[in-house]
Amino acid sequence: MYLTEETRNYLSSDEVFDSQFPVYVQQLSRIHWTPLNVASTAAKFLAPDPQSRIIDIGAGVGKFCIAGSCYSKGAFTGIEQRKNFVTAGNKVIKTLGIERAQLIHGNFTELDLTSFTGIYFYNSFHENLVFSDALDNKVEVSTELFEQYSAHLLTQLNAMPIGTRLATFWLSITEIPGCYKLQESHFNNLLKLWVKES
Ligand SMILES: C[S@@+](CC[C@H](N)C(=O)[O-])C[C@H]1O[C@@H](n2cnc3c(N)ncnc32)[C@H](O)[C@@H]1O
Repeated sequence: MYLTEETRNYLSSDEVFDSQFPVYVQQLSRIHWTPLNVASTAAKFLAPDPQSRIIDIGAGVGKFCIAGSCYSKGAFTGIEQRKNFVTAGNKVIKTLGIERAQLIHGNFTELDLTSFTGIYFYNSFHENLVFSDALDNKVEVSTELFEQYSAHLLTQLNAMPIGTRLATFWLSITEIPGCYKLQESHFNNLLKLWVKES
């Protein structure tokens, strides 16, 4: 696929990629945004062909969606509850002229996931368990929300069609329904790649 020289340059390292964003966003990257090598492996698995439609649940500033669209042929949508992240990410998408990535502002509980062929999930609800890991104080965090979001995701994962691809980063194996079969693990088992088989 065609990538401009500018885009290729931004994919040369995490630091260079992150430098497109405001400083407060760069400072969150090491802990909260998917590293480029992880994004590359996950995106190639999730989007094996141009018809692949991927949803990133809790997309942050869209690092996974932007990089994923460059590393694969699929279309990437990210849903993110913090509006400032969506604004920052969509600005970069526009500047780079990326056509197969978009960020939507909202809570993932408002979205029907069944129109997507693949799901990416980087432990997005963790800040509701360990408050000191919260990205900022712009949204409410609580253990009740963790339970609510986890239950909703489980229901959605169970409702997805057979063949749905799922990539989880920093998630325990016990959190994924048994109808998803683990295909591959990478990066010290932190990235797990699944397919829904029943
Ligand atoms: C660990 S970051 C991952 C960012 C991105 N997926 C990546 O890999 O670069 C998790 C993000 O999920 C978002 N988030 C958490 N709960 C959410 C919810 N219920 N709906 C939408 N976004 C949510 C947070 O605001 C945060 O930006």
